[in-house]
Amino acid sequence: MQTLYQRIGGQEVIEKTVDRFYEHVLADPLMQPFFANTSMDKLRTMQMEFFTIALDGPDTGTTISLYASHQGRGIERQHLTRFTEHLLATLREIGMNESDVSAVIARIATYSDQILGESTIDG
Ligand code: HEM
Repeated sequence: MQTLYQRIGGQEVIEKTVDRFYEHVLADPLMQPFFANTSMDKLRTMQMEFFTIALDGPDTGTTISLYASHQGRGIERQHLTRFTEHLLATLREIGMNESDVSAVIARIATYSDQILGESTIDG
């Protein structure tokens, strides 16, 4: 059984996706303010690591707390929706087949509660 990471084409495809994705995000006035003080080189690297973990790629030894890195930034559902739309557009643009696109989007969506700060211990 191939992992989702292997099926989409591994590191090369993840790199292409993340690069293109942030071009979309940074060109979007709704998204731009959130990234004004962020080192994009570092973020791209972290996002590649995150995708590798989320899609069951090789263990990089990195731990990423999505809750910690997103809390207090004023991120609302509309921002998360837009973020996901940019990811969807990017995956299609790089030519991923629709069933893999759906699988990737579904996997990433499982982290939504952590981004919106709704994943607290007391629910
Ligand atoms: C499921 C959706 C999302 C995922 C999987 C995700 C993933 C990540 C990852 C892996 C990092 C790096 C974490 C680290 O450095 O420790 C990060 C950082 C960041 N994310 Fe997200 N993110 C998501 C949604 C969003 C949304 C909707 C926004 C705002 C519109 C956002 C804004 C940011 C910002 C500003 C940073 C950089 C923080 C800094 O400067 O250190 N993210 N995200």
